[in-house]
Amino acid sequence: MRAITAAEIKVVRGVALRRDPAREACFKVVELHHELHDYDDMSDVSRRQRLHRHMHNEMQTMEIAAQGLADFPDAPWDLRMQMARQCWDEARHTCVLYRRLRELGGRKGEFPVMNYEWGVTQLLDSLAARLAVQNRTFEGGEIDLLRQQERMWNEAGDPNTAALMDALLADEVQHVRFANRWLKKMAQENPRTLLHVATGIQRLRQVTAGLAPQPGEMNAVGVNLTAFTHNDVMANIDDRKLAEFTEQEISELLRQEGFGSIAAAAQAPAA
Ligand SMILES: [Fe+2]
Ligand SMILES: [Fe+2]
Repeated sequence: MRAITAAEIKVVRGVALRRDPAREACFKVVELHHELHDYDDMSDVSRRQRLHRHMHNEMQTMEIAAQGLADFPDAPWDLRMQMARQCWDEARHTCVLYRRLRELGGRKGEFPVMNYEWGVTQLLDSLAARLAVQNRTFEGGEIDLLRQQERMWNEAGDPNTAALMDALLADEVQHVRFANRWLKKMAQENPRTLLHVATGIQRLRQVTAGLAPQPGEMNAVGVNLTAFTHNDVMANIDDRKLAEFTEQEISELLRQEGFGSIAAAAQAPAA
């Protein structure tokens, strides 16, 4: 890929990020979590904000997959086909969420948006690193989040939106799975792939640490961010298996979430 110029980089809290992609004038683009309007309940305004944020995130994911196609024209054809299909999926997800947002009385640009995933991934100069960070990590996390959100919308008495989360999940599993398959294949063919993956994950850690909310930091609508972002997102084991994470990787994830003993038990041979 071509080198990224200094003009394409912005610095937020000392962290270098790729400059935001173009947005329609209706969107207010912000740079830090505390500027967003995330609510911690399921009030009407919170429901619209959740759909709005999710819609914008799907749009951003489409842009990331599309930029990957443009930046890595020499990637294997079959991988490029998967990425092109992903663009189609993410565009559809954006439209479906936009429609639901309007059905609930919301509108495009109603809440601030942030291009966090774009900012992180678009400074990575290898396709392996981008697949590791975007598909395997961000969208892998979405597998867990979508199952939790399906439950939340059902419990809030909105089975229609809950059903949307389930439909999106099926596609996200495929996006994570093709990245897992290709990363394995690329690593087998060229051990340097592991270095690219490690570079991407290390970069993600740096950005996450640099931009993480400070203890007690409140967002634009008065929600305590450190309390908010730590609400439980339980690992969605079944769907992660479908996305071809190994037992060991799932166990590691559970261990990080404080369920190490359960993970260890699952790996121990039956008595
Ligand atoms: Fe999606
Ligand atoms: Fe996706």
